[in-house]
Amino acid sequence: MQPSDAIYPSLRDRNVLVTGGAGGIGASVVEHFCAQGARVTFLDIADAVAEELAARIAASGHPRPQYRHVDVTDTASLQDAVRAAGPLHVLVNNAAHDERHDWREVTAEYWDQRIAVNLRHQFFAIQAAAPAMIAAGAGSIINFGSTSWRLGMGGMPAYTASKAGVEALTRSFARDLGPHGIRVNCVLPGWIMTERQLALWVNETSEAVRHAGQCLKDRLYPPDVARLVLWLAADDSRMATAQTWTVDGGWM
Ligand SMILES: NC(=O)c1ccc[n+]([C@@H]2O[C@H](COP(=O)([O-])OP(=O)(O)OC[C@H]3O[C@@H](n4cnc5c(N)ncnc54)[C@H](O)[C@@H]3O)[C@@H](O)[C@H]2O)c1
Repeated sequence: MQPSDAIYPSLRDRNVLVTGGAGGIGASVVEHFCAQGARVTFLDIADAVAEELAARIAASGHPRPQYRHVDVTDTASLQDAVRAAGPLHVLVNNAAHDERHDWREVTAEYWDQRIAVNLRHQFFAIQAAAPAMIAAGAGSIINFGSTSWRLGMGGMPAYTASKAGVEALTRSFARDLGPHGIRVNCVLPGWIMTERQLALWVNETSEAVRHAGQCLKDRLYPPDVARLVLWLAADDSRMATAQTWTVDGGWM
């Protein structure tokens, strides 16, 4: 699937940071912003795929995104990278890790790790990005949640609890930062066919469940989400904040 046909003039030359931008949906978000002529920095720990992505984007004639190796659970490094990339106009808190876990075996340490990779970094990236956005009087922050907990999925309680927390974090920051002209929204992807999902969980049985659940019967792919992110980042959505935006093919 190709990047969006839409062109948002307000995104040209905008300074954008995407966490977890090397693979999956994040990589598509990076590609989509670069195709708009934005200046993009992305953070990840998957160096080889990150460098491949940056090279592919540059080869396609778009501005080459800056890659930085940052583990988002290392709060000091994360905040340094956010400040170094700034002043940001757009922050996309996308990184996460949806590892399954049996509730009987979860230790306090494991719980804390899951919260760190799925929720905590979103708060600290915003804390580092917000002062420059406040000084500029503008900004768009997009936090990635998940439909999983709303669908009542089991098998990963620390992930689903984190993702529920992302929605609360979004509304709380929308209130605190709104008076400074900063918008804060949450994107909820449905089941998106990333390489990881296809490799680990897509099979005949799960496809039948998805087909029955979605109103629209097609598979969703990363660009379906990235296109929504572009709109939320652009000035076209200037009065949209404190909301949760779902792209799931209408899964009920
Ligand atoms: N794919 C789906 O079906 C789906 C569904 C609901 C929600 N989401 C959400 O969408 C977002 C993107 O998901 P995805 O499916 O593309 O995930 P993915 O696992 O395919 O990609 C995640 C990216 O984050 C990076 N990452 C992981 N841990 C990191 C860390 N500690 N520091 C820095 N980078 C790290 C990975 O290297 C990878 O590039 C996540 O927030 C996820 O929870 C995805």
